[in-house]
Amino acid sequence: MEKTVVLVKPDGVQRGLIGAIISRFEKKGLKLCAIKMVALDDAILDKWYAHHLGKPFFKDLKNFMKSSPVVAMVWEGVECIEAVRLIVGITKSRGAEAGTIRGDFGMSQSHNLIHASDSPEAAKKELRFLFKGKEILDYEKSEYLHVYNIEELEK
Ligand code: CMP
Repeated sequence: MEKTVVLVKPDGVQRGLIGAIISRFEKKGLKLCAIKMVALDDAILDKWYAHHLGKPFFKDLKNFMKSSPVVAMVWEGVECIEAVRLIVGITKSRGAEAGTIRGDFGMSQSHNLIHASDSPEAAKKELRFLFKGKEILDYEKSEYLHVYNIEELEK
């Protein structure tokens, strides 16, 4: 099964939306494999957002991401990178579809509540940046038997 990295950004933490955000992924049928609160620093943010280096919003983005701790999580499921991105919604929250996290809770393009890995390569990289191997828990989720069919469970 696939794993993806999700961050509840400082605005989500400050607005008391951690539980509501986690609840969306739990209800979807995804498995939570790791969770912790972290204060991001320049060293990690320069790597995390290396693809945005040089963009006009880069400095503000880093300051925003350092403005309070974030909640970092690893979620697992069949093709869950795409599934999670669909739940998150597009970057500009005020244009995000109703029913998505950004569409339901946000208005901003920068303060958009949540980060989710956008590709398998990004997920692997982000997982390595934030988690040690032993922090990612491998356990049986009995609910999986009701969430997936047999072929899907073998993916
Ligand atoms: P995300 O897509 O999670 O990762 C990059 C972040 O940069 C994005 O969320 C926003 O928080 C921020 N971002 C992207 N585009 C802009 C923009 N045009 N202006 C300000 N912030 C942006």
